[in-house]
Parts: sequence; C-alpha cells; structure tokens
Amino acid sequence: MNLTRTKSVEQSIADTEESEHQLRKELGPVQLVVFGVGVILGTGIFVLTGEAAGEKAGPAIALSFVFSGIACALAALCYAEFASTVPVAGSAYTFSYASLGEIVAWIIGWDLILELGLGASTVAVGWSSYFADLMKSIGITIPGWAYGEGHNLVAAAIVLILTAVLCVGIKISSQINFVFVVIKVAIVLFVIVAGLFFIKMSNYSPFIPPSGSASAAGAEVTPSLLQDLGLSPGAFGVSGIFTGAALVFFAYIGFDIVATAAEETKNPQRDMPIGIFGSLAICTVLYVAVSLVVTGMVKYTDIKIEAPLAEAFRSVGHPAFATVISIGAIIGLTTVMMVLMLGQSRVFFAMSRDRLLPPTFAKVSPRFGTPLRTTILTGSVVALISTFVPLSELAELVNIGTLFAFVLVAIGVLVLRRSRPDLKRAFRCPGVPVVPVLAVLTAFYLMLNLPAATWIRFLIWMALGLVVYFVHGRRSSRLATDPEYARNSAVDGQNQPARSGDHS
Ligand code: ALA
Repeated sequence: MNLTRTKSVEQSIADTEESEHQLRKELGPVQLVVFGVGVILGTGIFVLTGEAAGEKAGPAIALSFVFSGIACALAALCYAEFASTVPVAGSAYTFSYASLGEIVAWIIGWDLILELGLGASTVAVGWSSYFADLMKSIGITIPGWAYGEGHNLVAAAIVLILTAVLCVGIKISSQINFVFVVIKVAIVLFVIVAGLFFIKMSNYSPFIPPSGSASAAGAEVTPSLLQDLGLSPGAFGVSGIFTGAALVFFAYIGFDIVATAAEETKNPQRDMPIGIFGSLAICTVLYVAVSLVVTGMVKYTDIKIEAPLAEAFRSVGHPAFATVISIGAIIGLTTVMMVLMLGQSRVFFAMSRDRLLPPTFAKVSPRFGTPLRTTILTGSVVALISTFVPLSELAELVNIGTLFAFVLVAIGVLVLRRSRPDLKRAFRCPGVPVVPVLAVLTAFYLMLNLPAATWIRFLIWMALGLVVYFVHGRRSSRLATDPEYARNSAVDGQNQPARSGDHS
C-alpha cells in the first residue's frame, strides 16, 4: 500500500463542492485579519512574557519576539502560497496531502490536533484562573468543588459555551470574535500608552543580562535541548534570546490557523495572504511594544511570572488599571480558545472527509452550515482535558507541534513547486528555494531551544499517531477504499499509472 499516495489539488477543491460536505463561504479579508488577531493575541503576551523575561532573556525579550516573529513571517510566506493555491479546510494537513503524500498529511493532521486541541485546553485553564481572580476581586469566591486542579469545571464551562457558539455558525462566531478582538487590542494599546509614563531607563540595563544571571522569583528554569547537549549556555545572554523566543513563540500561534478557514472565505486567493500577513504584522508590533514597556516598568528580576502586565501596573501604584487589564485578558483568551477550537474542528473535518478518521464526522449541518459533529466532539474533548489536566506547563508542547508543522509546510511548498509547476498560485512565496529553506531552519532551531522533556512528549504523541494510522487510517482512507476517487486524485502517477500530460 502506497504511503506517499497524494490527493491532487483539484480533487481537494472538488471535495469541497460535494453538497453534504459544503461549508458556507462567509469570510472576507477584514474578518480574516480579525480572526487571526483573535487567536494570536492571548496567553503568549498576557502570561508568557513574564516567564520569558524573568527566566530567559530579561529586557532582550523584545528581541525574542522579533526573532520568533521572523521565523513566523518566513513560514507565513509558505502558508500564504499554499492557502491561496489549495483553499480547502484543514490547512497544513490539506497542503501536505497534496504535496508530500498521505502519511505526511496524517502526521501533520495528528500534530495539528496537538497544537489546536491542547492549545485550547491550555488557554481554558489560564482563562479560568483569571476569571476566578477577577471574581475574587469583586467579592465572589468560586466554590472549591467547581474550581481547582483536577476538577476545573470553570474551564470546562467556558469551553462548552464557546462550542455552542461555534455550532450555530461561523458568521455569528466571527461577529462575536470581532467585538472581543476590538476590546483586547484596545487593552493592549492601553498597556503600551499608559505604561510609557512609567518606564525607567535604568530597568533596561543590562538589556541583555549576562548568562547565568539570577532569575525572577518563582521561576523554574528548564534547560533547552541544546543546553542539555552542551551546545548552548542556556538562559540569559545571547542564547537566552533564543530560548525566550522558543517559549514566546506560543504568542504567534494562530496565524497558521487563518489558513484553516480558507474554504469558508469568499475570495481565498486574494484574501488569505491579507489575513495571514495582516494579523501577523499587527501582533508583532504589539508584542515588541508591550515587552519593551513592561520590562521598562519593572526590573526583569522583579517581574511577576503569572500576570506580568497586570502586576506591572500594580507595582507602579495603579491597581485599577490592573483590573482593567485582567478583564482584557479574560476577553482576549476567550477569542483565542474559540478560534483554536474552530481550527481544530476543521482539521478533524478535513481528515474525516478523507476517511482517515471516521467519515461520520465530516457531515455538515444543513441548518447551520457548520460541521456540527466534529465541533461538538472537539468541544467535549477540550472541555474534558481542561477539567482534569493542569496544562499550563504544556505550552511548549504546543509550540513544538506547531514548529514541526511549519517545517513540513515549507518543505511542501518546495515539493509542490516541482511536482505541480502548472498550478495557479495567486500568491507566490518570494525567493524560492531560499525562503522555504530558511523557514525550515529557523523553525527547527526554535524546536532545539525547547526542553528535552518537550521533545520526548512530542515523539510519544507522534508515535501514537502512527499506530492509529497503520491500524485504522491507512485502510479506511478514501484513497484506499474508493478506486474511482483514487484515480481522479492521482498526481503524476502516484496512485495509478501516469496519464499522458500528467507529469510536470
Ligand atoms: N497565540 C495564542 C496565545 O498567545 C495561542 O494565546
């Protein structure tokens, strides 16, 4: 059985036109940018900035954001080419099915489940603690049975509420998202502008604390894989900028998810690149500004690991500002969860449509125009995980999964350029092959800057995925069970003897 059988781009697009699998095309460029910012701006800037500045990079955290942003921009060029060529739900999964073959597509799909599902659970747990904190500040204590490690019903409740919103339709989801995004961007701008007045230049020196400097209180520094291998001195100094970058990479996760909505976009060839670059550019500017302001307000050794932005304002005597920021964080994290779950249900949908997962999950509700079953399944699993597992420390696992997807997508662009030079590419990644190769190298370098434990967890998850593929997906795949379909999907003779004129 052919593990590298591919599904042609034409077939991927044709699948979206089958009536029982049709998603509604409602989104334009503005909605896509808003969608992107909705999922990008969240835990990364509101929470992880503290850890990255206090434990890894000091004020040079701003440079960590710049480096991570560059890695993302390189990958974004590849995502934009793919999303404008293959505007089909499923993002990296679909792209790799069209270029690298079924097994790689499966690996990526499985990997995206880790990124999106676990990412949503992580954010839900973070959301619940902000929520509990805010309730407490207005005198309401959430009872112990509803909120705590191992029985976090608050996290589950928010996930289920958002699942219901997603079921009702992508249009209404994007309207709610719009309002929330406006509020959260306003809060972040508020942090930047109000914070400017409290910056002390002395806090910036040293801007790059030397290697081995003391960390902020409460920090638990985990060495990176490179450090374990003796190839890097680890936290602080120049190498700290990169370990910081590998952590705050979480803050950028999401621009790739814009691509999962390609199939629901009115004019994906034009709008996808706008959505991807627009949201990425806005967030990069905000991140660099926020991190400069916060490390200017508070000495990095005094930064609070849990709630760095709110605490920065408490420390300069403005607790009311801190409350406003906490409300902003709650709202901000809500949209992140919503879009992560949306992306997750679409990847699941695409995999089920290809019958690598049970096809029943690929049904679209005629009433709402959304994949109801996958949405409910996704919501339930995310709710369960966030109830029972305290996942905050797993942001790095989400990062490694996403970086790995970047690597495969960048390689996919190179492969598809060779195998299908004839395809219409509304957006072409410039500087091929240099840009995709650089995208691979920067993403891989960031992966190496993550802890060894993260690598081990990631490899276990991927190994489990391969078992599922060989036991189930490989046999039940639509390419394996439907010969007519496999014939139509053939690209340069991979699934059947080549037709004349099919080669490139
Ligand atoms: N980028 C998203 C966040 O920071 C996942 O929460």
